[in-house]
Amino acid sequence: MKNILYIASEAVPYIKTGGLADVVGTLPRYIDKRYYDVRVVMPRYTSMTQEMKDSLTYVTNFYMDFHWKREYVGIFEGENEGIKYYFVDCEDYFAGWSPYGTDVPFEIEKFSFFAKAALSILPVVNFRPDIIHCHDWQTGLVPVYLKERFQGSEFFRGIKAVMTIHNLKFQGRWNKDTVRDITGLPGYFFTPDKLEIFGDADLLKGGIIYADAITTVSETYAKEIQMEFYGEGLDGLLRARSGDLRGIVNGIDYEEFNPETDRFIAQRFNQVNFRKEKVKNKTALQKELSLTVDEKRFMIGIVSRLTDQKGFDLIARVLDELCHDEVQIVVLGTGTEQYENMFRHFAWKYAGEVSANIFYSEELSHKIYASADAFLMPSLFEPCGLSQLMAMRYGTLPIVRQTGGLKDTVEPYNRFQSAGTGFGFLNYNAHEMLRTIRDAEALYYDNRREWNKMVDRAMQVDYSWSVSAKKYQEMYDWLAP
Ligand code: ADP
Ligand code: GLC
Repeated sequence: MKNILYIASEAVPYIKTGGLADVVGTLPRYIDKRYYDVRVVMPRYTSMTQEMKDSLTYVTNFYMDFHWKREYVGIFEGENEGIKYYFVDCEDYFAGWSPYGTDVPFEIEKFSFFAKAALSILPVVNFRPDIIHCHDWQTGLVPVYLKERFQGSEFFRGIKAVMTIHNLKFQGRWNKDTVRDITGLPGYFFTPDKLEIFGDADLLKGGIIYADAITTVSETYAKEIQMEFYGEGLDGLLRARSGDLRGIVNGIDYEEFNPETDRFIAQRFNQVNFRKEKVKNKTALQKELSLTVDEKRFMIGIVSRLTDQKGFDLIARVLDELCHDEVQIVVLGTGTEQYENMFRHFAWKYAGEVSANIFYSEELSHKIYASADAFLMPSLFEPCGLSQLMAMRYGTLPIVRQTGGLKDTVEPYNRFQSAGTGFGFLNYNAHEMLRTIRDAEALYYDNRREWNKMVDRAMQVDYSWSVSAKKYQEMYDWLAP
């Protein structure tokens, strides 16, 4: 039996701001329980729902030296679908309306505290992992602390660390002196071969350097981040460590996202009856969102963080043009004010055809995945992307820019071979995107038989976790034979 510990800043069902939570909350359930005991450590945020907070039980507390003070560390535990969770409690750091804030030095302090606390609770709860699996910059210091400070004690000696990059854009970078002061790490660590980068300190870089293996969430992104354009300043380091870097594509929870059993959607459907049944979701959603009710109208869905990463500057460039086509656009998302207001404006200008839902709603997200004909995701970069997988599962064809995980998971339509599970374009160019959307429209309106065959193929592809979970297991076995 191998003990594996995930350390992460979010996980479903406890708290979610993006795909990271889906992955951390779902993947452990697909790791073979006969051979691996996987547990998760995350913060106990005050912003979790009361229901989630009530589901946890208090274990104990202690005080830990951190940032020139003795800081309270509470431990709670919980269980979800057979997976044990530990929660680090400390209201000095985990209070507030959402897990993350905008004050960078405070965020760095928060997650430095979390990294140290997550390791410190292990002897207390008496769980000694063989492998600690870290996720994103918030846990970048875990391998650093593990290899240096904690290595001195018998309990921690020999524990291996994995660093998974879900998004290289965010690294936890701030000036060296402040980070040194916060983390309590000696000056030795703040050189360019360790945490330093262009004069600053970088937590994710530390994690990458001190981890025994590095992964990211698709094969293409694993290659891309070794190039300057996608490397965010770490491409050189990632090239140097390419032997320890692998890309393992994400899956989605096939029980949670299942058009046959989905509790949120108006009409359940499956691969056999989608031709007749899926459209009932579209008309129900049109009614719900006060759109023109017309089952023939081509509906494009967007469920996303509204940020530059997701290609919204391309959409901004051609949205007016697109709205003159025979289309309806349904957006669900929050993010940059500029994009939030852009969609509000278009929903006003094209009332009945554009619906802007500027909030977070699991329920509405499922309804959009089930109702739309196509799903738009023209990302500038995309480590993996889960939304396109959810869309395909509901027979909604993704229109994507072929980058990162979008390239690996969506096969672009090929009219000559009657192949493909979506539509793709290569260059980050608004009119190339528009042309691709229009190809999709044309196929939908003029050749429904071909369209439906594509829906059939998209619903058939298997992006459940079963395949990728095995790849993680192989890595765990290689690290700790
Ligand atoms: P990222 O993690 O970069 O935001 P992913 O595609 O990996 O992108 O994951 C996004 C996840 O967040 C999906 O599960 C998607 O359905 C969900 N999501 C994004 N915005 C919203 C929203 N406003 N309401 C509900 N779910 C959302
Ligand atoms: C990040 C990426 C997204 C990926 C998710 C889960 O948020 O932006 O592409 O799917 O992490 O790995």
